Amino acid sequence: MSHPPGHPRSPMLDLDQFEGRKRDHIELSLKPDHQAAGRSGLDSVRLEHEALPELDLVEVSLATDCLGLELPTPFFVAGMTMGHTAASGLNHRLAHACAERGWAMGVGSQRREFESTEQATELAREGRALRKSAPGAFLLANLGLSQLAGGSPESNADRVLRLVASIEAQALVIHLNALQEALQPEGTPRFRGGLKAIEEMVASIHRTGAGIPVVIKETGCGISEATARRLGSAGVSAIDVSGLGGTHWGRIEGARAVSGSLQSTASATFADWGIPTLDSVRAAASALSDNSHFRYSIWASGGVRNGLDAAKLIASGAHRVGFAQPALRAAMEGENALRAWMEQMEFELRVALFCTGSNSPAALRGRGVHESR
Ligand SMILES: Cc1cc2nc3c(=O)[nH]c(=O)nc-3n(C[C@H](O)[C@H](O)[C@H](O)COP(=O)(O)O)c2cc1C
Repeated sequence: MSHPPGHPRSPMLDLDQFEGRKRDHIELSLKPDHQAAGRSGLDSVRLEHEALPELDLVEVSLATDCLGLELPTPFFVAGMTMGHTAASGLNHRLAHACAERGWAMGVGSQRREFESTEQATELAREGRALRKSAPGAFLLANLGLSQLAGGSPESNADRVLRLVASIEAQALVIHLNALQEALQPEGTPRFRGGLKAIEEMVASIHRTGAGIPVVIKETGCGISEATARRLGSAGVSAIDVSGLGGTHWGRIEGARAVSGSLQSTASATFADWGIPTLDSVRAAASALSDNSHFRYSIWASGGVRNGLDAAKLIASGAHRVGFAQPALRAAMEGENALRAWMEQMEFELRVALFCTGSNSPAALRGRGVHESR
């Protein structure tokens, strides 16, 4: 039995743990107590109404560039599930709907496939099945930064490219989740050397000529301006700020921890930890406008709950806007409910564009929002 260097744990143990953890995450993310509702900053701002938009609603186009490819909408479903038996149907449903409506779609962490040589073939088969069910989908592969810590740049890059290949992903997402790893009972809070690992990944992928863009995302705690600058210098192609305001991993992991444990008590202390999504988008936009060498686009997720939220984030500088928990909830209701929800998000964004006199998301971007009274 051979294990990749630095990952000596039993893959069978990992399998049980992974399945249980993913099931917990899906169930707990749907509980209102685990949402940092009202903290995104979006409720305290408004867009300026344009009484004379000088365009027809039908003229509004949502088409937006996504890492060099034009997609019909500026939306994405943020990564949630992958390599997890109970949710494979949900993933197919999401991928199918995303392909149909022109949303990008992140899969959940491919950690099991990354760490386990034994299950890699089976997991790669699942990846291929997902791609087959949605050939036209813009898919984003996903792995946590703490999984890269300690691995050599060459072996990390090889294994990551295998994950990308198994779903024929258009981009690689590396997620940052320091608070979650710190409070997760079985967490791996290892982030030393994280920026270097990101720089090396960008450089190695560039060297292979694979042309795969690297996207860095948070998972609900946001990204500061200083960190956006560090990521810009590392050459990343997009930053998904995924800020405070929606699904909160401090709360979720606290609910999974043994009552009265260090993690469970700390979870209450850190229940509102994070940078609000709106502040984080502004921070990433400020860093981007200061440095002409940065080539990242700004993606916004974390507490985005309707099309007007999306418009506010675009006006604040976001190029792409994502939903995790609301997409999961809609997908769980069924295929029709998911499509109806996606259509609703698109319609609301279209109305916001129309009522601000913007014929496209690009026309609204960077216009700013007003503090509401
Ligand atoms: C059930 C669930 C599982 C998630 N798993 C992952 C994951 O594997 N990788 C990742 O990068 N983010 C993961 N996330 C985080 C989301 O991508 C997103 O950053 C976060 O939930 C904030 O968005 P929201 O408020 O719209 O839910 C998960 C979210 C949910 C709800």
